[in-house]
Amino acid sequence: PDARVKGIAESIRSIRDFPKPGILFRDVTTLLLNPKAFKDCIDICVERYAESKIDVVAGIEARGFIFGPPIALALGAKFVPVRKAKKLPGEVIGEEYSLEYGTDKIEIHVGAVNPGDRIIVVDDLIATGGTLGAALRLMERVGGEVVECVCVIELPELKGRAKLNGKPLFTVVEFEGH
Ligand code: PRP
Ligand code: MG
Repeated sequence: PDARVKGIAESIRSIRDFPKPGILFRDVTTLLLNPKAFKDCIDICVERYAESKIDVVAGIEARGFIFGPPIALALGAKFVPVRKAKKLPGEVIGEEYSLEYGTDKIEIHVGAVNPGDRIIVVDDLIATGGTLGAALRLMERVGGEVVECVCVIELPELKGRAKLNGKPLFTVVEFEGH
């Protein structure tokens, strides 16, 4: 096991009953307040893909925008923001996913990902896997090759991996209880 993971896990704050009663919210903003732990987290991801010839790091709005860009810069890859619907100004391609109530949609600019691009999709956390699953489908629809999905935090009890259509997922820390 990686000795850096303990410090990363300890720097993530847990807040009860947010955003609603019964939910134990894992707050990555406190990881960002610990420069050593934040750097360790980025380094772990960069080391993992250093030899993987990654062309694109796709980061999911909003918190994938915190972790994706430093990984992209270190890998010498492009950063592609995967945004919530109606935020991008150019021509877009989108993918819907279901929430507890209703649906949501994420989009990328047409042309941001080229067919054959080797991609990692980055977010802060996987819960039910709906968000990451949609990002994955979007990348594949434009011809990208998703090498792996990457999240800082996994909540294994919610079985989000099952939504990734067999695609591998790398996570830095896992938390029981949600
Ligand atoms: C949270 C989190 C992940 C997603 C995980 O984002 O940052 O993106 O939920 O949930 P899932 O695995 O059940 O899909 P949220 O949609 O709350 O928005 P934000 O990142 O913009 O704050
Ligand atoms: Mg999010």
